[in-house]
Amino acid sequence: MADKFVVTPWEVSGRIDYGKLVKEFGLTPLEGLPKAFTDNLLFRRKKVFAHRDFQKILAAIKERKPFVMMTGLMPTGKFHIGHAVVARQMAFYQSLGAKLYIAVADIEAFHARGQTLEESRRVAMEEYLPSYIALGLKPENCEVYFQSARSADAGRANAYYRLQNMLAKHATFSEFKAVYGEISPGKMVAALLQAADMLHPQLPEFGGPVPVVVPVGTDQDPHLRLARDLAARTKAYRFTTLASTYHVFVPGLGGGKMSSSDERSCIALTDDAKTVKMKVNKYAFSGGKDTVEAHRKHGGDPDVDVAYQYLTFFEEDDKKLKRYYDDYKSGKLLSGELKAILIAKLNAFLAEHQKRREAARKRLHEYLAAPEEFTPKQKH
Ligand code: TRP
Repeated sequence: MADKFVVTPWEVSGRIDYGKLVKEFGLTPLEGLPKAFTDNLLFRRKKVFAHRDFQKILAAIKERKPFVMMTGLMPTGKFHIGHAVVARQMAFYQSLGAKLYIAVADIEAFHARGQTLEESRRVAMEEYLPSYIALGLKPENCEVYFQSARSADAGRANAYYRLQNMLAKHATFSEFKAVYGEISPGKMVAALLQAADMLHPQLPEFGGPVPVVVPVGTDQDPHLRLARDLAARTKAYRFTTLASTYHVFVPGLGGGKMSSSDERSCIALTDDAKTVKMKVNKYAFSGGKDTVEAHRKHGGDPDVDVAYQYLTFFEEDDKKLKRYYDDYKSGKLLSGELKAILIAKLNAFLAEHQKRREAARKRLHEYLAAPEEFTPKQKH
């Protein structure tokens, strides 16, 4: 019998059956993608596994027509290897010619997590944005904005907040509840703002109409459904249906979803080599057997082994990865050896990333939609 699992924007737990999620949410599996996509590890290995209305994005790419990738993250806690899955997609879509809009969800963090706008600003500028840039984001055709300060251009800012307000007319309480599990005025505001995030690239003030794809973790689908439904109901605007893609969660070290508030669960992109080694050796859930003899005899289970799972995100070479899989399963490769392979891989990646991130710190302003003076300074 399948384990019980939960995937909502406010809770992710249990062993997730993605096939079942596709059915329950009414998503479409991502299949038959062109080579530009399957050259990318995340698409080739089905880390990005499902979509809604993605055909129009594929068509735009094929016909070399403009399209937008829009997504966002709450700047809370450390930026970890789970967040990197979204950031890697940003850079990928940019390389395909997309215009990018990236929301720093500081208003959402304020309402859903009780985090002040100043703290969100600090975390975004110190942790998130430098990592986006280090993961390959270019300043051209890219706008990073704070929900609390959309644009230095009043016409654009007004259009974004006007849209948020106009959409309110078409939402129901039960729809809000589906997004946050409970209804409070603040959470309603945040849900409407996220709908405005996803839809505003289509407004004329932002160069629309244009097709938009929103890559998200699967827990965010209720937000997509809300935005799509509001868009279909409004008479004040004409929107083309949002496209979205869904990626798997990077498991936490002990299983479950990676959480930045739990040291034993996450590998942060700021962790040093010693910390990574310690965390992987100490906390990474192993699919190996209890003794070397039993392991040699019966083999390990790579499908539940967290070190192996991480390698599927970081080892580019399919042949090597398959060898690790086969050798681990046959018992030839021990748990400690597999962990050592992962530690070396992660630390090589992080050493390079950390160099790039330090260089990126001087370039943050090239990406921001509104300069510093637009950010709220008051205490909350
Ligand atoms: N709700 C998202 C999160 O929890 C953040 C977010 C805000 C977002 N606006 C968005 C995601 C627009 C995708 C598109 O991290």
